[in-house]
Amino acid sequence: MYDFKPEAGADPQELYRQLREAADALTADEPDSVANMANIASLLWEFLPDLNWAGFYRLADSKSGKARELVLGPFVGRPACIRIPIGVGVCGTAAASGETQRVADVHAFAGHIACDAASQSELVVPIKRGGEVIAVIDLDSPRRSRFAEADAEGIEALARLLADRIG
Ligand code: SME
Repeated sequence: MYDFKPEAGADPQELYRQLREAADALTADEPDSVANMANIASLLWEFLPDLNWAGFYRLADSKSGKARELVLGPFVGRPACIRIPIGVGVCGTAAASGETQRVADVHAFAGHIACDAASQSELVVPIKRGGEVIAVIDLDSPRRSRFAEADAEGIEALARLLADRIG
């Protein structure tokens, strides 16, 4: 049985260190990307309070095979939009720019895609391999301004750990 839980009262740096330690333990010896993303989505949900969605979108072929787009990966939360064009919404903007998007109020973000009406703020962090975006980690919160700079830094460090462990 796995019992990964954050210690009560940990500050953000310590919380994210413990999250990375658990993520490392779960993925280090496992080559299957889906299994790894599924366990990380669960860890994000267990470790981070005030979330209504936590998971992955991966760069993959469009249905026609003529373009690349973001396609829904493992997550915890309500069913979500499956395909997001590069450059569209918070996730597509992170994928297009290669930069973290920390959005205090999603209603003020032009083009935000509302998958769950409860979402008020959002953090999207690209995962890069060899300089290319291969996926994004997406966190949604029902609370405005849920995500601080420390959350962006913590998830960026997690993204670096996962770069070679997901497809
Ligand atoms: N809000 C995201 C879409 C994905 S859902 O939040 C799970 C966006 O604007 O890209």
